[in-house]
Amino acid sequence: TSSPALVRAESLIRSIPDHPEPGILFRDITPLLADREALQATTEALVAPFRGSFDVVAGIEARGFILAGAAAIEAGTGFVPIRKAGKLPLPAASVDYALEYGTATIEMHDDLPAGSRILLIDDVLATGGTLAAGRRIVEQLGYHVAGISVLFEIDGLGGRDVVGDVHTVFRS
Ligand code: PRP
Repeated sequence: TSSPALVRAESLIRSIPDHPEPGILFRDITPLLADREALQATTEALVAPFRGSFDVVAGIEARGFILAGAAAIEAGTGFVPIRKAGKLPLPAASVDYALEYGTATIEMHDDLPAGSRILLIDDVLATGGTLAAGRRIVEQLGYHVAGISVLFEIDGLGGRDVVGDVHTVFRS
């Protein structure tokens, strides 16, 4: 039961073979982001299942920032960045994880009140390593994961099993 705007939004996710490495089919959401109606509809769809159940939205660098920022405005909450290592000035926690292509570390500040309920957002769920690390870092800092919401889920990589309960707007 997708709205016409969501159907249109899905058609604006573009698949690029062999980016950023041979064998990776890259899901490029920039055409969707550029479209007013598609961006609005997907932002609403990311937030809808969790409305009223979170205090703040956290987004994972880099594309997760865009959607999480939009979601925070949509929900009337603040926004917190979860960044790749070395970018934040006062990281309070650090988590290493394996990526579909390579390894990485994420960091986060601890400026929220203890027990804050966080809606965690990213653009793509692939192997699940990134969002599982996102969940870990939020919990390490004593916050509560109110929900995890993703724009696009790539089926067949087991990401859902790694991350746990996750809401996805579109899937392959
Ligand atoms: C991509 C994507 C997700 C992650 C999904 O980010 O934006 O964050 O990979 O993969 P996973 O489920 O296998 O962990 P990337 O690491 O390319 O970072 P970027 O957004 O900074 O380019």
